[in-house]
Amino acid sequence: MSRILVTGASTGLGLGAARELLEQGHTVLVHSRSAERAEEHLHDLMQRGAALVTGDLADLDAVRGLVPQVERLGGVDAVIHNAGVISGPSILPVNVVAPYLLTALLPARRLVFLSSGMHRGGRASLTGLDWAGARATASYSDSKLMVTALAAAVARIRPDVFSNAVDPGWVPTRMGGAGAPDDLELGHRTQAWLAAGEDPATNTSAYWFHQRQREPHPSARDEAFQDALLDALEAHTGVRLT
Ligand SMILES: NC(=O)c1ccc[n+]([C@@H]2O[C@H](COP(=O)([O-])OP(=O)(O)OC[C@H]3O[C@@H](n4cnc5c(N)ncnc54)[C@H](OP(=O)(O)O)[C@@H]3O)[C@@H](O)[C@H]2O)c1
Repeated sequence: MSRILVTGASTGLGLGAARELLEQGHTVLVHSRSAERAEEHLHDLMQRGAALVTGDLADLDAVRGLVPQVERLGGVDAVIHNAGVISGPSILPVNVVAPYLLTALLPARRLVFLSSGMHRGGRASLTGLDWAGARATASYSDSKLMVTALAAAVARIRPDVFSNAVDPGWVPTRMGGAGAPDDLELGHRTQAWLAAGEDPATNTSAYWFHQRQREPHPSARDEAFQDALLDALEAHTGVRLT
């Protein structure tokens, strides 16, 4: 059994993955932006044994503050970097900076980053970006291309870590909208399976859709783009990912 942190577990795919992992007997740390949000949405999971960590992922100090919270609870084997937003100035802080900083600061052997089929429409450009999120300077697709490249970069830098990116499909969550055509249950299955790590097929680093490896946008595998992304994130956070 594994110890697994799921970010953005208050609703949607994060809640689904956390619930599934808890039912399988894993130790689950659920992350929510605040204790109030957790009380509203995670009461049931916490009654069933999930531990809570809180922090606004758009706030660098709050992301840093998650690390001692997780450590006090005994650390984790795996992290599902699930929290995300589809629009607004928080796109870069929440979708890219927070996963980077948590990965740099929090040891874990298995990492799962939520990508999207929409990463294929992203621009592999880092010019003029406001990483702090005072202004919206990147699209959702841009951010998902970056986080897919981040997953591949971590796999390269940390050969002892299984670092995966997942396209969950277009599913009917708050973000996906009620009319989304794909299966909600299948939407979190791959993340939970990769994080649990009980199937030897998960002992790898790749880009996935519904438990099958797919080829991501070529820029995600471009080491020059990965290195430029890591440099920009290090400059913004003051923390190097090693
Ligand atoms: N749904 C889809 O069709 C789809 C397709 C491709 C990829 N994805 C990806 O899958 C992941 C989950 O998506 P979803 O559909 O489940 O979205 P969702 O229903 O909107 O849930 C997003 C989660 O992220 C949390 N979150 C957002 N901003 C946060 C912040 N600043 N601090 C802390 N937590 C924050 C939300 O917390 P609050 O409830 O407090 O806001 C919520 O728990 C995202 O990364 C998304 O990009 C989704």
